[in-house]
Amino acid sequence: MELIKVQRGTQDILPEQSRRWQTVEDVMRGEAELNGFREIRTPVFEDTRLFQRSVGETTDVVQKEMYTFEDKGGRSVTLKPEGTAGAVRAFLEHGLYNGPAPVKLYYLTPCYRYEHAQAGRLREFHQFGVEMFGSAMPLADAALIAFAHSLFGRLYVKNLKLKINSIGCPVCRAEYTKALAAYFAERKDRLCETCRSRLERNPMRILDCKNPECAEIAAGAPHILDYLCDGCREHFEQVKTGLDSVGVGYEVDPTIVRGLDYYTRTVFEFVSDDLGAQSTVCGGGRYDGLVEQMGGRPTPALGFALGIERLLMIMEAQKVGFSEPAACELYFANIGDAARQEAFRLACALRESGVEAAFDETGRGLNAQMKYAGKIGAQFTVVLGDDELKTGAAKIKNMKTGETKKIDLKNDFAGQFAAISTEADDLSF
Ligand code: HAM
Repeated sequence: MELIKVQRGTQDILPEQSRRWQTVEDVMRGEAELNGFREIRTPVFEDTRLFQRSVGETTDVVQKEMYTFEDKGGRSVTLKPEGTAGAVRAFLEHGLYNGPAPVKLYYLTPCYRYEHAQAGRLREFHQFGVEMFGSAMPLADAALIAFAHSLFGRLYVKNLKLKINSIGCPVCRAEYTKALAAYFAERKDRLCETCRSRLERNPMRILDCKNPECAEIAAGAPHILDYLCDGCREHFEQVKTGLDSVGVGYEVDPTIVRGLDYYTRTVFEFVSDDLGAQSTVCGGGRYDGLVEQMGGRPTPALGFALGIERLLMIMEAQKVGFSEPAACELYFANIGDAARQEAFRLACALRESGVEAAFDETGRGLNAQMKYAGKIGAQFTVVLGDDELKTGAAKIKNMKTGETKKIDLKNDFAGQFAAISTEADDLSF
């Protein structure tokens, strides 16, 4: 029978890999909590209009990449292509704005975009993201960027470039959009069809088009930094001062506009040469207009998201070491059914006291059991047979040193094992 394979652009995370995932996720959670963020979990699918209104009708994500379908009740739903929209919805729906400001949320979530799958560009990928509501201060932007920066440090990721830009507010952007529209109008014939329609509705989106011809034209387009109003210029200066004050290096890159519509003022990306074509591992910025646009009171906000698959690709390329997998601490081998029953009882008692214990769950012979114990890296083994059951005592073997000790099966087995393994740990230093 034909084996059904995993879907294009999706991948299985096998145990060897999932340990790495757990490690980076633990670091992310720890760093988020340290920075005062608390976890939010929002559904994988939402009302399609949520993304149309926030991410924006003219973006690649909404125009080309959403997993949108009608559910059995005839509602149009979409698998989340990113985490910000759901966080904003939940912020409004649950009145989180009534709590003390700023409200700081983080999430680890799968995301779905129907993209041309390639290394680092997946249809199902995972984001660690943070969102902060209620601060308009430039120092909040700097603090958020410094947070991402220190997160990479904690993960031993090197050689990332931080690129920052300001894309202004609706006031200065209006002027800029006019200049941009004039520039692209002169080159309209060479633009892709989608960009031609963007020219009328949102010329800034052309700057973000993945079509090579459009990208080439976009490279010569006017820069928003030349059009910033005084307020936006001052804000950007203070973000830079904030970054300077904590020694976070950056490059001002006026071509960074981000692929989503909700941004205002500061935008930033962390890029790596270890990622090939998909060089951005983390992106974010301010979105001061979004909460109001989604039906809330005006609320300045900002955030970023980091792609976990891309992060792990960089870590792999940079050969960042991960700790060894936890190995079985004690394996019970047995001869016969009664001994297996006893092994089961003792393994349960050990597990209850937090020891990773194993016994034979397959019914194989003693030799095969011992081979298996070697393969899973068991630190100690105990062989149980009729004699051991009769006398109520067995030998416990340290697999590293070959040393054996007597152990009582009937009295406080877990306590005796704790003493033996602590002694072995002490000796190995
Ligand atoms: P984004 O730049 O679209 O921003 O995505 C953030 C990160 O998700 C990217 O830097 C990348 O690492 C990862 N990513 C995006 N698409 C893919 C893909 N197809 N395959 C693998 N990884 C991918 C956002 O999503 C914003 N919501 C970030 C944000 C939060 N802005 C403010 N708050």
